Amino acid sequence: MITYESVKEAADAVLDRVGERPEVALVLGSGMGGVADVVEGARVVPYAEILGFAEATVAGHAGRLVAGRLCGKRVVVLQGRLHLYEGYSAARAAFPVRVVGMMGARRLVLTNAAGGICPDYRPGDLVRIVDHINLSGENPLSGPNDERLGPRFPDMSAAYDPELGALFDQVAAEAGERVLHGVYAFLRGPSYETPAEIRMLRALGADLVGMSTVPETIVAVHMGLSVLGVSLVANLAAGLSAHRLSHDEVERTAHASGERLARLLRSFIERL
Ligand code: HPA
Repeated sequence: MITYESVKEAADAVLDRVGERPEVALVLGSGMGGVADVVEGARVVPYAEILGFAEATVAGHAGRLVAGRLCGKRVVVLQGRLHLYEGYSAARAAFPVRVVGMMGARRLVLTNAAGGICPDYRPGDLVRIVDHINLSGENPLSGPNDERLGPRFPDMSAAYDPELGALFDQVAAEAGERVLHGVYAFLRGPSYETPAEIRMLRALGADLVGMSTVPETIVAVHMGLSVLGVSLVANLAAGLSAHRLSHDEVERTAHASGERLARLLRSFIERL
């Protein structure tokens, strides 16, 4: 069971080890772990050593928390995330975000690799998430609510903070980087979608599809954090290109474009 006390206990234990309260937290998706490599004065805590974090099991997800400075800001980076397809509940998958929120971060940057549904998207594109559709059938807030974490019925009408989003767009424009906007559909996976499911998602108003991020956004909004979400289009969604989907392709594209996203995130954090 995830309780206020379990979040607090993990947050206090991590704070003991890293020393400083973060201002900004980042969660890095598949192939994008590189941002953590440029954290200055990095203190590293493997997830396995944090009570309540489970080991992140997917290849390409390192599973460690890195705290330090990025462009002069106190940051904490969650390098590797927990997914529902690994068997975790939505609440467990989002637990690390609650912990960094409890540690003091007021802003959260979520990145992921996603399938592109919108016909304007090409692999390697960066898309700012402006809204989401939760199709997992799960919510990390289900069960008893502790008001010390947040309200019973949090408002989700601006889950991805428009002000943070506008700043990210501005930083991208100044850097000459094309950033599109999109609605992210969250499915549990782990099988990729069928072409018929992708046609359904398109009809529902989704531009991107993926297997992460939404539980983290929900607990962050619950705690009153401001969220920026950015997807890297790793592949065209099923049925939209001639070839089959593979995790290898997802990783390769994310790696190839990850450095562009890392650079933008650094400029963004500098401007916060
Ligand atoms: N579908 C779901 N999740 C994904 C995809 C996809 O096409 N690409 C990367 N993550």
